[in-house]
Amino acid sequence: MALVVITGANQGIGLAMAQQLQARGDEVVAACRTASDELNATDCQVVEGVDVCDDAGVELLRQAVGDRRVDVLINNAGILTSERFDDLDFDRMRKQYEVNTLGPLRVTKALSDNLREGSKVGILTSRVGSMADNGSGGNYGYRMSKAAANMAGVNLMHDFKPRGIAVILLHPGYVKTNMTGGNGMTDTASSAKGLVARIDDLSMETTGTFWHAEGYQLPW
Ligand SMILES: NC(=O)c1ccc[n+]([C@@H]2O[C@H](COP(=O)([O-])OP(=O)(O)OC[C@H]3O[C@@H](n4cnc5c(N)ncnc54)[C@H](OP(=O)(O)O)[C@@H]3O)[C@@H](O)[C@H]2O)c1
Repeated sequence: MALVVITGANQGIGLAMAQQLQARGDEVVAACRTASDELNATDCQVVEGVDVCDDAGVELLRQAVGDRRVDVLINNAGILTSERFDDLDFDRMRKQYEVNTLGPLRVTKALSDNLREGSKVGILTSRVGSMADNGSGGNYGYRMSKAAANMAGVNLMHDFKPRGIAVILLHPGYVKTNMTGGNGMTDTASSAKGLVARIDDLSMETTGTFWHAEGYQLPW
């Protein structure tokens, strides 16, 4: 039985991963700002007040984990606002950087001592953070924040390699959640199943790589 920590676990893809991991017998620490009925209905250890932009909130998570070994940390929390070139809102863009880029780094740093040899760290970025895959532009703040999150993940790969901790960057697919206004090509359960499989497959041989939940590698 693995101990898994997930951020943004009260809804969407984070909730679906928490449900699936708990159902297969893993011990799940489900971090969120505010719990949902669906999350409270699970047997996960729910930790509220965990805003990934806030050191005090992340400290609540660190305290809840205590000195336990974290086998898998899944940095899932994220936000999307849309900015076109003729509609740039720098405050909103900065906020996305806070949540999507600095958030995973803050949480990973806070739990660093709980990550031991053989542990894994996942970050949900997005294929829209890929330079090579950018065929349409737009969404300035989201794309930039996710590209920078990919860079944070590769840096973490270097820092964690000597400790035997593997890192994976993940794209969940275009998933029907509140983030997408319910639009998408797949549902949260299918996406979560793929994401969990990618994390299960992760090894020190594949650390620092970028994967679609459906099982193929994505270009930077
Ligand atoms: N859905 C897609 O098609 C898609 C595609 C590519 C990547 N992703 C990525 O997948 C991840 C999950 O997205 P989703 O579709 O499941 O979105 P979602 O349903 O909107 O859920 C987002 C989660 O992030 C949490 N969150 C937002 N800001 C936070 C903060 N400051 N501190 C802590 N938690 C915060 C939300 O908590 P609250 O309930 O408190 O707001 C919520 O639990 C995100 O990183 C997203 O960028 C999604």
